[in-house]
Amino acid sequence: MLCHEVKIPPTPGGGYRITIGTGLLPTVWERMRADFAASTPFVVTDEDVVAAGHLSRLVGANEAACFVIRPSGEKSKTVDTAVAIVETMEKAFLGRDSIVLALGGGTVGDIAGFAAAVFKRGVPVVQIPTTTLAQADSAVGGKTGVDSSVSKNAFGAFWHPAAVYIDVATVKTLDERQYRAGIVESIKHGLIADSSYFELIEANIDAILARDTGALEQIALANCRIKGAVVEADPTERNQRRMLNYGHTIGHAVEAASGYGLLHGEAVAVGIVAAGLIEAEMGLANGDRLGRIRALFERLGVPRAKSGGIRPSELMDLLRHDKKAVHGWPKFVLIEGIGQVYVRNGAYAVDVPPEIVNSVLERL
Ligand SMILES: NC(=O)c1ccc[n+]([C@@H]2O[C@H](COP(=O)([O-])OP(=O)(O)OC[C@H]3O[C@@H](n4cnc5c(N)ncnc54)[C@H](O)[C@@H]3O)[C@@H](O)[C@H]2O)c1
Ligand SMILES: [Zn+2]
Repeated sequence: MLCHEVKIPPTPGGGYRITIGTGLLPTVWERMRADFAASTPFVVTDEDVVAAGHLSRLVGANEAACFVIRPSGEKSKTVDTAVAIVETMEKAFLGRDSIVLALGGGTVGDIAGFAAAVFKRGVPVVQIPTTTLAQADSAVGGKTGVDSSVSKNAFGAFWHPAAVYIDVATVKTLDERQYRAGIVESIKHGLIADSSYFELIEANIDAILARDTGALEQIALANCRIKGAVVEADPTERNQRRMLNYGHTIGHAVEAASGYGLLHGEAVAVGIVAAGLIEAEMGLANGDRLGRIRALFERLGVPRAKSGGIRPSELMDLLRHDKKAVHGWPKFVLIEGIGQVYVRNGAYAVDVPPEIVNSVLERL
């Protein structure tokens, strides 16, 4: 089996290796035991990932202490679940030598990473992502957390993984809508950092949709290189890392206004189109960039516009309450070309007058 490796250079918590391959999962246990010989593994996963057969593929005939999150998905991303994980580890007499293996999508990765960050003041976590979103985005970068009853990721920690293993074959069992929505984060990486990567996705969209593992390995590698470089430059999101928020400011508002009926990636697609309209208003458009992006999203089968039921005024209110808003209004990440973030006075997120945003939302 061919394995690609990306080494993320020192981050607070040390550098780590990302191993990417097809059919890697059954070999992860042995690889992990070799790299972390002194540690006792504890697996966190969720019931849909177990049903898809991935837990048995990971553990094989080995003895493993395990916590299965039920039900799967955002509903379980709570402090209560983190508490249950910590208490299960305690009852299994696990100590500071334990290592948490997070097997699943972004939900599992965020919860398990957070539990690892707080268990006995922190034990290492290994991320083993199984969704297109987690493989492109959440498994790398060290953000972990759980939701409060008021907002998403209200409790959280930067807790970089000790290692990441990406088996691109695991996404073959993923639901079609989830699969497609997760690809939006890959497209975002091309838009903010690498035009040739964007072109690669455009040229290979049929193979990606067919879940061709060669194509998936290529995009996994590019995603890790891009996100890794951004995170290395700014591990705690003081400036450059904000570029990963491209399409997310309006995307988060659209996601919330849909009552979370839209998947995250679907809402981000709408947010990226909105960013393109803002760029046109601000004189940053060149050629038919937005047309290309819309065509790619159409091919991917994700929305390009908000649903008619969502009012611009509602989105404006949500933007005023954005968690990154300063004096009641957020800054926006924009691009001035494919692969080129617009940076003004050294800042990667810039001021856009509310009137411009409002007029864009009217047309979105
Ligand atoms: N930490 C970060 O940097 C970061 C970045 C982006 C998103 N996130 C978080 O990620 C979460 C969303 O993650 P997600 O989109 O991966 O969703 P998810 O983890 O909820 O997974 C979606 C569904 O697919 C199932 N599933 C996962 N892998 C599967 C597989 N291989 N086969 C069959 N079913 C499978 C899950 O059990 C779940 O039911 C959100 O909570 C979001 O806040 C975190
Ligand atoms: Zn995102």
